Amino acid sequence: MRLGCAWYPEHWNEQRWPEDLRLMREAGMNVVRVAEFAWSRMEPEEGKFDLDWVERAIEAAARQELDTVLGTPSAAPPAWLTRRYPETLAVRENGRRDGHGNRCHFSPTSPRYLELAARMAEEMARRFGRHARVIAWQIDNEYSSVSYDDEARAQFQTFLRERYGTLEALNRRWTTAYWSQTYFDWSEIPLPIMGGHHPGLRLEFRRFVTEVYRHYQKVQLDAVRRHSDRPITHNYMGWFDVFDHYRVSEELDFASWDSYVGSGHLDPLKNGAIHDLTRGFKQRSFWLMETQPGHVNWSGINNDLDRGEVRAKAWHAVGHGADAVLYWQWRSALGGQEQYHGTLVGPDGTPRPLYQEVCELGRDFSRAAEALRDTTPVSDAALLHSYEDRWAISLQRHHKDFDPVAHLESFYRPLRRLSPSLDLVSPSAPLDGYRLVVAPHLHLMNADLTARLQHFVREGGHLVLGPRSGMKDRDNALLPSHQPGPLRELVGARVEEYYALDTEAPLSPSGRARIWAEWLEPDRDDVEVPLRYGRVNGWLDGRAAVVSRSVGRGRVCYVGAWLDPDSMATLARGWAQASGIDTAQASLPEGVELCRRVGPRGEVWIVVNHTVQPQRGRLPRAGRDVLSDGPASDAVELPPRGVAVVVASVG
Ligand code: GLA
Repeated sequence: MRLGCAWYPEHWNEQRWPEDLRLMREAGMNVVRVAEFAWSRMEPEEGKFDLDWVERAIEAAARQELDTVLGTPSAAPPAWLTRRYPETLAVRENGRRDGHGNRCHFSPTSPRYLELAARMAEEMARRFGRHARVIAWQIDNEYSSVSYDDEARAQFQTFLRERYGTLEALNRRWTTAYWSQTYFDWSEIPLPIMGGHHPGLRLEFRRFVTEVYRHYQKVQLDAVRRHSDRPITHNYMGWFDVFDHYRVSEELDFASWDSYVGSGHLDPLKNGAIHDLTRGFKQRSFWLMETQPGHVNWSGINNDLDRGEVRAKAWHAVGHGADAVLYWQWRSALGGQEQYHGTLVGPDGTPRPLYQEVCELGRDFSRAAEALRDTTPVSDAALLHSYEDRWAISLQRHHKDFDPVAHLESFYRPLRRLSPSLDLVSPSAPLDGYRLVVAPHLHLMNADLTARLQHFVREGGHLVLGPRSGMKDRDNALLPSHQPGPLRELVGARVEEYYALDTEAPLSPSGRARIWAEWLEPDRDDVEVPLRYGRVNGWLDGRAAVVSRSVGRGRVCYVGAWLDPDSMATLARGWAQASGIDTAQASLPEGVELCRRVGPRGEVWIVVNHTVQPQRGRLPRAGRDVLSDGPASDAVELPPRGVAVVVASVG
């Protein structure tokens, strides 16, 4: 278990470092992340590197038993660089080139920028790649910048040429005859800079940005790996969808993310889904590379998390598979854009009130480390999530409120209220280990995925498909068939028509649909109809809203509408029961989260009371609470925002 923070030694006089590091160690921290915005200090002049201070920082940290994660600094190019090479600055969608003065103002398609960033990374790796105290690398920081410059346009055209081969194929697959969009030369193809662009082009542009970041990352990965054998990560931003995180994660050793609440308080179901998403990038444990020490500075109301909430949030992360929790940042910098952000030590260098809570967490982590060693969440149910589906739907929501993430959450929430662990994985992930697979909106279909889903069901799996499934192909073109396209035979029903709802639609025997409703028409006699529409618009009245049937040794269910939470909860209970997934979470009250990590020595349950009342509930078995170092009966009791980490007795 790692506990730590983002530390910026370059902000402070070196005489101060030992005191900061001592306070970190006293809090139980064992890692600092360093240097990810320090390019101007590490290369103050082009080609002149000063890494001595970084070495002194690593060594000073080591004297307090703190290891270092080194970040490559490419998210913040120095002023000499952008002055000398203005072509490295990003051009935004409105055609304006960024100026200097913020961060992330670089163009990830600029060959010059990639070369300079890789050279900086290589200098760091040459010097510290095998340093005993450097335990991992972070490439860049929160990839996000997209540039719409001439270089990007030329690269996009090359990307399309490689994918489509001929313009004839591209024109056909995109139906460019529409609005006279036929291309006669690759150089005519634009970047999507003015809205209203062609859906095929816009989807391909997202794929292009993905390849841009794969390449941007690869040049730095190669530079670091030439000199270092330490694991490499990148810190993602939750649901951010400008590129396909599965593809970008392929070359990383592990994934990380930065989890901030912003305004308000932790919603463990909302945030837990993002932990599960991040765990799914590499299908293994991840790091919480940054999290909120009390409050942020960038939200509408930058309120603090309540007393006890920061600790609960850390355990919630560990429960979902985080092996490290790092606070951003250690100490308030006196200047710079983030002066008001929460920290553990204030501008005067003394601990802020929250520091004591992190000390408690440090004690927790040292007590639980042995029990958690080599454990990770293991799930028997998965939700399928794909960037391509999200892009295609977001580009044409059809109903302004059809937010694919909120829609996915409408399935995740009721299932997570039952199950102590859910996976969120790409549709291309292996499905064999799951009993239940839920695809909230499998919009783009292909033959391989169809075959794998058919196989999954025939072999005994339980498959749930949500609305908008089976509608388009990989080019973002409509399939010339009724939804769910190639899955129609498996489902035993078709979507006769879809409707964006301007009012709620009643369901029979009970419930409501909103935003989206599909008229489902069974093709076969063995199709069951658990929910129908009541009186809606004449078209939907009395039609099937949900259908299901048994196929082979398994079962398939198609949900044709965005359902209210109670209806989803009822359906989810049915899917859980029919598929036989673990429903141990259901024995705990709302707001008390049960997470399960599994390792070679058995199971560890992390139980977090996210409410401000004492709570009690039932665990699957008795065990030993490693935080209180005492026996834990299966009737668990937790104080407000309390946590138990229970090593399960062999049962
Ligand atoms: C992001 C960045 C950090 C910092 C925090 C503030 O996650 O990675 O550098 O700006 O936000 O919340």
